[in-house]
Amino acid sequence: MHMKKFFAVALTAAAIGLAGCATSSTDSAAPAAATEPAEAALSVEDAIFERQNAMREIGAAARSLQSGGDLAALQATGRTIADAAQRFGELFPEGSGPGEGVETGASAAIWTNRAAFDQQVAALVAAAQATANAPNAQAAGAAAGGIGATCRTCHSQFRTM
Ligand code: HEC
Repeated sequence: MHMKKFFAVALTAAAIGLAGCATSSTDSAAPAAATEPAEAALSVEDAIFERQNAMREIGAAARSLQSGGDLAALQATGRTIADAAQRFGELFPEGSGPGEGVETGASAAIWTNRAAFDQQVAALVAAAQATANAPNAQAAGAAAGGIGATCRTCHSQFRTM
């Protein structure tokens, strides 16, 4: 667990809890809000940390796809990759590219050609979802092959190390 991030989330949750108490003690909806802290923008450091972790997570998942498996296993892996990839948009915020004094393998091209980058995120999510929703093992295997292609396409254009 990344302590900084954990601390920030805990603080946010505490703040929301306090706000809920202050506004109304009869509002039964207030406690529910504390379990879902408002989306706070990630710091550059946290965004890079989280996206590298997410990439390693989908990397491990993608390797398990190559070793085959039954339909349920392929679908579960597709779901894992789709869920992780769906967060990529927020994990590449403005200012988290190279030249900011932070180690990153992200190319500056992401921020000068954002539409193409977002399109490749969407292509990965689509391939992973197709795997997750495949009706049979043959379709799942075909869709899983499409996942690997999206990794390579994006890395060749937007990853520097
Ligand atoms: C939309 C573009 C895009 C797609 C799609 C994508 N990646 Fe990446 N990947 C990147 C970028 C950019 C980095 C560099 C991130 C950084 O260092 O800040 C990266 C980094 C990585 C890393 C290194 C993480 C580390 O330890 O620093 C791995 C492993 C990885 N990707 C695996 C994958 C796999 C496997 C897939 C497909 C299932 C995939 N990626 C799909 C853009 C992408």
